Amino acid sequence: MVESAGDVRAEDIVFDPPAEFAAQAVATADLYARAAADRLGFWADQARSLLHWHAPFTEVLDWSDAPFARWFGDGRLNVAYNCLDRHVLAGHGDRVALLWEGEPGDSRRITYAELTAEVKRAANLLTALGVEAGDRVAIYLPMIPEAIIAMLAVARIGAVHSVVFGGFSAESLRARIEDAEAKLVITADGGWRRGKVSPLKPAVDAALAGGGTTVEKVLVVKRAWDDSEQLAWTDGRDLWWHEELAQVDWEHEAQPFEAENPLFILYTSGTTGKPKGIFHTSGGYLTQSAYTHRNVFDLHPDRDVYWCTADVGWVTGHTYVVYGPLANGATSVIYEGTPDAPKPGRWWALIEKYGVTQLYTAPTAIRSFMKAGREIPQQYDLSSLRLLGSVGEPINPEAWLWYREVIGGGRTPVVDTWWQTETGAIMVSPLPGVTAAKPGSAQVPLPGIVVDVLDDTGAPVGRNESGLLAIPEPWPSMLRGIWGDPHRFHETYWSRFSDGPSGPVYFAGDGARRDHDGDIWLLGRVDDVMNVAGHRLSTAEIESALVSHPWVAEAAVVGASDETTGQAVVAFVIPRARHADEAAREGGVDELRAHVASSIGPIARPRELFLVNELPKTRSGKIMRRLLRDAAEGRELGDTTTLTDATVMKAIADRVRH
Ligand code: WT7
Repeated sequence: MVESAGDVRAEDIVFDPPAEFAAQAVATADLYARAAADRLGFWADQARSLLHWHAPFTEVLDWSDAPFARWFGDGRLNVAYNCLDRHVLAGHGDRVALLWEGEPGDSRRITYAELTAEVKRAANLLTALGVEAGDRVAIYLPMIPEAIIAMLAVARIGAVHSVVFGGFSAESLRARIEDAEAKLVITADGGWRRGKVSPLKPAVDAALAGGGTTVEKVLVVKRAWDDSEQLAWTDGRDLWWHEELAQVDWEHEAQPFEAENPLFILYTSGTTGKPKGIFHTSGGYLTQSAYTHRNVFDLHPDRDVYWCTADVGWVTGHTYVVYGPLANGATSVIYEGTPDAPKPGRWWALIEKYGVTQLYTAPTAIRSFMKAGREIPQQYDLSSLRLLGSVGEPINPEAWLWYREVIGGGRTPVVDTWWQTETGAIMVSPLPGVTAAKPGSAQVPLPGIVVDVLDDTGAPVGRNESGLLAIPEPWPSMLRGIWGDPHRFHETYWSRFSDGPSGPVYFAGDGARRDHDGDIWLLGRVDDVMNVAGHRLSTAEIESALVSHPWVAEAAVVGASDETTGQAVVAFVIPRARHADEAAREGGVDELRAHVASSIGPIARPRELFLVNELPKTRSGKIMRRLLRDAAEGRELGDTTTLTDATVMKAIADRVRH
């Protein structure tokens, strides 16, 4: 048994797939050979065998207008039908789709037949409210079944959802509503978090205040409050979800849409202050979602109880809470609240209660459980688990080993899965019954996926060398663009390297290393994007939130390493002269931190904020974030010779130390 990576080189620790696991594994080694022999034929087979096509496709990939791809372009399908009706028609209507548990302990068990019925009715409601194919619907909901029902109802009528994470502020919600020109917002009064109601509808009211948006109606799910609670209500705009549903039919026949019909927009942070609306379409996205969910998580839908802990507000929630599992007819656990409510151990209690077989979560969660101590999970029976997954940020070998040992009982394979909002689905991951697992490494591209590590000039790096992660061949679940901004799409993702043999090469924004076996190790972002607790935040967006405060003249933000959340937000602020006293008085710094939380959302609140007189800049005026990161992490300062004034950094480093 290996307890910690300690003095062993992490890349020398290897766990072979357990024999009993390999013997029953969904994915076998021949997938690699089949995909390598005929990559497009392989994807066509996956699309045909995993999905139902109302009209079959004849063309697999059209890359002639690269980087704008068309996958299965002449095929027609209905995404919701694939996630619901066809399972019922195949005789699985009584299979449980969702095992939902609210934070207060209430629960719902929803079968495929029931979920299908609910989605049909909700689709009728959307149509009654005037939502048509192609229209955008914003969804701002807690982790309740209605979030999934709403997404699938939007998909069922060929409209486009834009789910906004409930932790985002009113301001962030408004920006997303405006950018997508949403016609309808679906929200709830609030959701439960840490024993309290976290209100949502008031944020929608604030986001829409003053008018000027394209929103016509707001549908409100009653979740958290009883009737005695007062919610502001705008007559003619606001409607109760349950009252409206009671007025419409239960029957609804799913119509087919083109494979390239947009399915959703999901906003993510980039290197500028404005979030990017990453948009995905239907046939290719659903194919790769179902394929990766089945093969990476070794899904046996008739007997597994699968749990992905992500919120539907992030891409992991889209692909591995909603579309992948439901396309595969899986039974999933969905939990509304936080892991420590009402006390630590809630997750382990859920695993014991529902007999969870696969758990998919983020390294930040694993590290926080490590910190709380193994005594907590050890009080529960976790023996139902047979596979563990990790996503969202690099997982350090210590956390990987702890996860396998303490949560997986030393018997489960662990899959470290690399992907992005943009890739739509998993790209790099071991196959649990095939790949000998290496703690801390995402290892190998999945069968059908081509990923490479390139140097600055675009040439592949050798073994034991580092470079940039790149994707030289298009893949089915790739983003189809940035909503309304084809220029930025080009610039951000397709212009870093010159064209390869298949056309433009995708730049992921991550650094990576190949080890002596050729396995891939992710090294974190190489741009001004931070990864805090597995969530992407932009330095520029937080800086612009800070300078919107009247006290702030200038701000610089860096991601400093943090032992639990991977990175944490650290801000350096120059106050305006006439407000310097206010900023410096007691509580001043906290007010600035709170301002970021209220402009973007609590996840963006800086862990630390330092008031400084100057920022380190090069002669061309560029802020040297590398030096600020050194200071924030308490390291010796790197090279300061390119600064206009080298004493600035010394003053900052002294400030951080005190
Ligand atoms: C960024 C994408 C993938 C869904 C959740 C996050 C980082 C993601 C890993 C991993 C190392 C990872 C990358 C990537 N990342 N998975 N297994 N190992 N880094 O999606 O918000 O679009 O962020 O998360 O830096 O670029 P996202």
